Amino acid sequence: MSRRARPLAGRGPMTAEEWTIELESQWMGRDLEYFASLDSTNQYLKTRLREENVPLGAAVVADEQTKGRGRLGREWWSPPRGGLYTSLVVYPGKDLSGLISLMAGVALSEAIEAETSLGPGLKWPNDVLVAGKKCAGILVEAGPAPEPWAVMGIGVNVEGVIREDLDHAITLAMAQNSAVSRIHLWARLCSRLEVWYETWLTRGGGPILAAWRERSLTLNQRVDVLAMGRVEFSGYARDIDGDGALLVETSGGQLRRVQAGEVGIRLEGGLYGPP
Ligand code: BTN
Repeated sequence: MSRRARPLAGRGPMTAEEWTIELESQWMGRDLEYFASLDSTNQYLKTRLREENVPLGAAVVADEQTKGRGRLGREWWSPPRGGLYTSLVVYPGKDLSGLISLMAGVALSEAIEAETSLGPGLKWPNDVLVAGKKCAGILVEAGPAPEPWAVMGIGVNVEGVIREDLDHAITLAMAQNSAVSRIHLWARLCSRLEVWYETWLTRGGGPILAAWRERSLTLNQRVDVLAMGRVEFSGYARDIDGDGALLVETSGGQLRRVQAGEVGIRLEGGLYGPP
């Protein structure tokens, strides 16, 4: 990817102006760059952060990603038009990526709920599920310099087809059986992210944790904790701590702390999410 990548001409009607028409947020998403195709919106913003001053709430949207990235080094399949692929910058003052990642999950669930007829829930740390399948994922990348920054990378399967091997995934349009507007969804997402970020600044992480717990599909479920695809241990997901780590109670009654950067979880029986 190159910082010099520019919107491709003749690749559909979308422009940054069109994407921002529905925006109601004050600062989140206001500085938007739109690309018909990009390797990764996260990578693009991280490169930009290295090279220049990037305003709070700066955002990128791409119609497709050729090297979309997921958590734990996975690929995020990002075909043209079907998805919403966006990244947004915040400056949390210190590295709060665990909490920011939960915050983004809550904001995204609320945006999906507001723009569809669906009732999304969260699989720790921040996979958004509808009907027991994943419709969206979040990759937060953070760094210390020149001022602690975080890039919230958000991918939503909005419409189109799902690749055959991704049988745990679903699009919003499939789940609700009618079309969903990516522009409305993105605008709503920016509003919810802005509200939550300001709430965090004024009231700390408590409200984010409470909202996440309310939407959780993981707490009190039996889970396998996986590292590099292998089961490390199993237990009951009991709570999250102030940094967004999952607390899993093992059969011996021990509470083990699981951090999102290192591992994933799977519900008992290999289920991706409760149906
Ligand atoms: C996951 O569930 O593994 C996280 C997926 C995050 C995908 C989004 S799409 C926009 C942004 N750019 C990327 O390369 N990844 C994130």
